[in-house]
Amino acid sequence: MLEEIEKIEKETVSPDFADAAALEQFRLTYLSSKGRIQVLMDAFKNLPGVEKKAVGKPLNALKSRLEEVFRVFKEKFSADSGSAQTFDTTLPINASHFGSSHPLKIVENALCDIFYSLGFDIADGPEIEDDRHNFGALNFAEDHPARDMQDTFFIGNHVLRTHTSSVQIREMEKRTPPIRLVMPGRVYRNEAISARSNCFFHQIEGLYIDKDVSFADLKQTLYYFVQQFFGEGTQVRFRSSYFPFTEPSAEMDIWAGTDTEEKRRLTKGTGWLEVLGCGMVHPNVLKACNIDPEVYQGYAFGMGIDRITMLKYGISDIRDLFHNDIRLLSQFSGV
Ligand code: DAH
Repeated sequence: MLEEIEKIEKETVSPDFADAAALEQFRLTYLSSKGRIQVLMDAFKNLPGVEKKAVGKPLNALKSRLEEVFRVFKEKFSADSGSAQTFDTTLPINASHFGSSHPLKIVENALCDIFYSLGFDIADGPEIEDDRHNFGALNFAEDHPARDMQDTFFIGNHVLRTHTSSVQIREMEKRTPPIRLVMPGRVYRNEAISARSNCFFHQIEGLYIDKDVSFADLKQTLYYFVQQFFGEGTQVRFRSSYFPFTEPSAEMDIWAGTDTEEKRRLTKGTGWLEVLGCGMVHPNVLKACNIDPEVYQGYAFGMGIDRITMLKYGISDIRDLFHNDIRLLSQFSGV
């Protein structure tokens, strides 16, 4: 055994390794569970006591030395590979590799944030709806033209929702007042496609149901929203209107201006852009959702996200929002 110890001593007298693979070879040869040191250790156990004395010391010394050699070189190689991976933190980042949020999503998020800050929660609902949620519970008469094939895409006896007002119904069925929600989503209408209108677009529905809610609260909230989103001093026009699910009903226009081609096109030359419909929730709608109109009132509104986005970013054709053209989308990275 002493011979074998000496032999190993000689072989490993001045250890050096070209790379980590060579070091690993060393470990396998000498230090692994089947390596030459272990073979010696196993044999050592069976030696008679007197011989143990002579062999034990040099064997242990050899083992410790080889382990130390391994440890030192291992450290060296892992430090080397570490330095190969370090990178220059002063190099500029390559921003062209970042994706971007879609402009519609950027605007939707900004609108939701404003209402969230006013205490509105956020909800959503299905795009494929039944007649009750899209029309019936919203007080549309059986023969209302909106149910017509002209406007609505039908799927069997379901419809692609024509507005996000359907989500109002779903939420009122589920919750008890006070209810304060905004509900963003995609809606579909069977319309001729042009620069100004598409067969699908996006809305944010708003709903506030409580005791003692008035039309003044509605106006105040919407005015606040306009100043927050479009800026202090933005001019607003409130016009009376008609929707089956609100009474009284109104529409709101904001002054976009006529100074650019996009604005003139978007506002049909008037400078005014209609951004939303709104009103006090009709008692029949509350009743359809088991809310007592004698106790609760509320207001609702629904605004078009696509138009607001076009105005905000000077996009003159609504179809440009859906071509997924990288040249348009990349302008929004980091927004
Ligand atoms: N659903 C209407 C539309 O798509 C917009 C609307 C009007 C929503 C009045 C409302 C509302 O909640 O109260 O044209």
